[in-house]
Amino acid sequence: MTQTTVLFVCLGNICRSPLAEGAMREAAERAGLDIKVDSCGTGNWHIGEAPDIRARSIARRKGVDLDMLRGRQLAAEDYTRFDYIFALDHDNLEVIRDRCPADSTAEISLLMDVVPGHEGEPVADPYFGGDEGFEVTWSDVSKAANALVERFSKNP
Ligand code: 4NP
Repeated sequence: MTQTTVLFVCLGNICRSPLAEGAMREAAERAGLDIKVDSCGTGNWHIGEAPDIRARSIARRKGVDLDMLRGRQLAAEDYTRFDYIFALDHDNLEVIRDRCPADSTAEISLLMDVVPGHEGEPVADPYFGGDEGFEVTWSDVSKAANALVERFSKNP
């Protein structure tokens, strides 16, 4: 069986998608699933940077270490390297679709569409707000990670 591969994409790759990556790694490990997980941004401002201190802080409180992650930008190869590309919000979904190469093999969708009752919702950008926004982000991406693990456990 080939390994399932999942990419989370936000704008800066320093707040939401690293948290989604961390939540997914943790949920997959807990379920004993071997899933390749990565994240990136559609923007280029934070390439090479560690995740935002507020994202690292909440992740650490939840038992997840994001310190080793570094920002990178969505690349053409991502569309063939990953089975699933999940956009954290609608703006990023649009950019991901706009940049989609002809040879793309990835299934591209909005992340919260995997969470029953939260279909069509964005994971709100917490960057310009306070710490409480990061609690909301963690709650959203954890729900999504758990839903994905449940889905991949049944049907990898
Ligand atoms: P993210 O948050 O997309 O969740 O990583 C942001 C990070 C940086 C910026 C915007 C959003 N920025 O404008 O630099």
